[in-house]
Amino acid sequence: AEVHYPRIPREYWEHRIEMCKALGMNSICIYIFWNIHEQQEGVYDFTGNNDIRAFCKLAQKHGMYVIVRPGPYVCAEWEMGGLPWWLLKKKDIRLREQDPYFMERVRLFELEVGKQLADLQITRGGNIIMVQVENEYGSYGQDKEYVSAVRDMVREAGFTDVPLFQCDWASNFELNALDDLVWTMNFGTGANIDNQFRRLKELRPNTPLMCSEFWSGWFDNWGRQHETRDAKDMVAGLQEMLDKNISFSLYMTHGGTSFGHWSGANSPGFSPDCSSYDYDAPINEAGQATPKYHELRNMLAQYTDGKPLPEIPAAMPVQTVAEFQMTEVAPIFDNLPEPIHSEEIKTMEEFDQGWGSMLYRTTLKGTDSQSRLTITDAHDYAQVFIDGKYIGKMDRRLGEKVLTLPSVREGAVLDILVEAMGRINFGRAIKDFKGITDRVELTTVAANGESTTTELKGWDVYLFPNTYEFTLNKNYQPSTLNSQPSTLVPGYYKGTFTVDKKADTFLDLTTWGKGLVYVNGHCLGRFWEIGPQQTLYVPGCWLKKGENEIIILDIKGPQQNKLVGHEKPILDALRNPVPATHREPGTVLSLEGEKPVLTARFKAGNGWQEQKFNGTVEGQYVCIEVISNQKDDAYTAIAEWYLLDAEGNRLSREPWTIQYADSEDKSRSNRTGDRIYDLQESTYWATAQGAELPHHLIINLGSKQQLTALQYLPRMEEGAPGAIKEYRIYVKDEPFTIVKE
Ligand code: GLA
Repeated sequence: AEVHYPRIPREYWEHRIEMCKALGMNSICIYIFWNIHEQQEGVYDFTGNNDIRAFCKLAQKHGMYVIVRPGPYVCAEWEMGGLPWWLLKKKDIRLREQDPYFMERVRLFELEVGKQLADLQITRGGNIIMVQVENEYGSYGQDKEYVSAVRDMVREAGFTDVPLFQCDWASNFELNALDDLVWTMNFGTGANIDNQFRRLKELRPNTPLMCSEFWSGWFDNWGRQHETRDAKDMVAGLQEMLDKNISFSLYMTHGGTSFGHWSGANSPGFSPDCSSYDYDAPINEAGQATPKYHELRNMLAQYTDGKPLPEIPAAMPVQTVAEFQMTEVAPIFDNLPEPIHSEEIKTMEEFDQGWGSMLYRTTLKGTDSQSRLTITDAHDYAQVFIDGKYIGKMDRRLGEKVLTLPSVREGAVLDILVEAMGRINFGRAIKDFKGITDRVELTTVAANGESTTTELKGWDVYLFPNTYEFTLNKNYQPSTLNSQPSTLVPGYYKGTFTVDKKADTFLDLTTWGKGLVYVNGHCLGRFWEIGPQQTLYVPGCWLKKGENEIIILDIKGPQQNKLVGHEKPILDALRNPVPATHREPGTVLSLEGEKPVLTARFKAGNGWQEQKFNGTVEGQYVCIEVISNQKDDAYTAIAEWYLLDAEGNRLSREPWTIQYADSEDKSRSNRTGDRIYDLQESTYWATAQGAELPHHLIINLGSKQQLTALQYLPRMEEGAPGAIKEYRIYVKDEPFTIVKE
């Protein structure tokens, strides 16, 4: 049962462990999150909620084994995949590679983990039975030397007695497979289990089999639909593994919450993760048994050699909190800290700040017509103000980099308030600097139509770290805002609410903009009006009987000053969804006059397939035309897609976008065209049920490329539903022609 200690208040650890036990699990699987333990270089913290030793011992108290996954990289929808941000102070660092500085810091950290846990190996009286080396390295690179070096550090840390293992996907585990490690597979609900282990069994006929992450559900991203996965499919997959003597760890059995600023973001593109890590797991965010829990428990109860499962522990009490208002406010712009002057744009890391927001301020020359402001790149959410007046925003998720400015007076003050969200935790983009990463330019157009672009310099930079102390030490004034709609004032809002018991509640932030919430000094996490998450989980153990302090940093400002606590979360109320689909209503692709560069057919079944083009073709836009499916599925699907360059290497998919998709299944999340290059084999593009063939998906590669072959992965599920049979490929330099229907 995978659970993450920082995603659960320490006071509730034991309850969650008992919930896992009562579910029928015999082991707890944990990552060790490097960056929460070493928030400052060289300063290690294994106390309080970071006390991994106490966590393992609690599991032991309840007769549970522990599997430890000490990174250094963990992914896990966690800020930078668990790597400390301060590594980025070495600007040219090569993360998860044999960069000497990176490796030295990894080694020191693993030694610290060893000091905490090595003597808890099962051979020494503890309960640790396995330790993982790195995490899914195959989806990052091919570098056995690096993985070997990490393995050696894990051994040096004292983990010499129990099996060391490496986890990957069936499609890529051979890339970095080390002879002396156990190899395990990760895959999700619905996957074809025999296929997942086929190659491993060929290579190692006698190896024990394990799915080290069987995904019970999936995580949520801001601005995308809430995720759920079917309980029946999950239970069926687990039962099949039990019957085939395959071990598994259920990721997540209890997801919990990414408190504070610890949630990460996915790439390609930038898709920040929600604070709730409910994951549609059997044990929900608040530690309660869900219908999925009961279904799984009923199945697992048949595999206990006749022993009854422990009783399910009582759920933690919940409560509502009556509507209240924030009584004080400290507007951000009236509470600026001392600025630091910098001629050039610098990132947040260069100012020695890891998380939070920053304000870049400079003055403008007077203009008598509109101008264009270009920021490359604002990480992650920039709001632009001139002389204190809000002009617009740039949202990294949406690729926004340009704003039109009105004409301004000589000396007008330009403010760019940039909020950092979680660093990317997956793929090569984990090297994710915050603040403004390169430059700011202003383009003016003269009366004769000539345009001039100048780089803006001479900045005063104001830093806003994400700490409770920083948030508290403001010049708070009584707030005149009431619960009526109002103009938006970015600021710190302070208030109190009263409860008569220490029970869990879910704070409803529906009328608030974007930011962070602190209750009694605990940061509950990020909120954002766009959803799908609208409430933040408040563990009762962090509350006091009577009055409780609450501070909200809202970088946009609330629409209405009011809050209320519910007994249940709101995790699926998506507002202003991102243009989820890649086809303007009423338009359609025209392939008139286009000639395919390839006409071919795929084989039936699961697994990767490769098809060469006739020689090298060149272009920026690649259209996949699906003529028929393998079976009479009512839709077409693609899990992953690569293109190979002139040397036969996979092209980087970082710059890819989708120009067009004739159809995308909107009834569920993660079915849009861009899912074919999201590096996640368990998410996929799917056309709507019943949409007619042929289907078209057009990839914009970002720039002209030479192409020699394609690689295609159908859905991972048994029988590869939606798999393609006959298809054609078209390649062009220009966008394809989209016409009115
Ligand atoms: C992978 C990673 C996990 C997590 C899941 C998705 O399997 O190893 O850390 O990110 O994907 O939830």
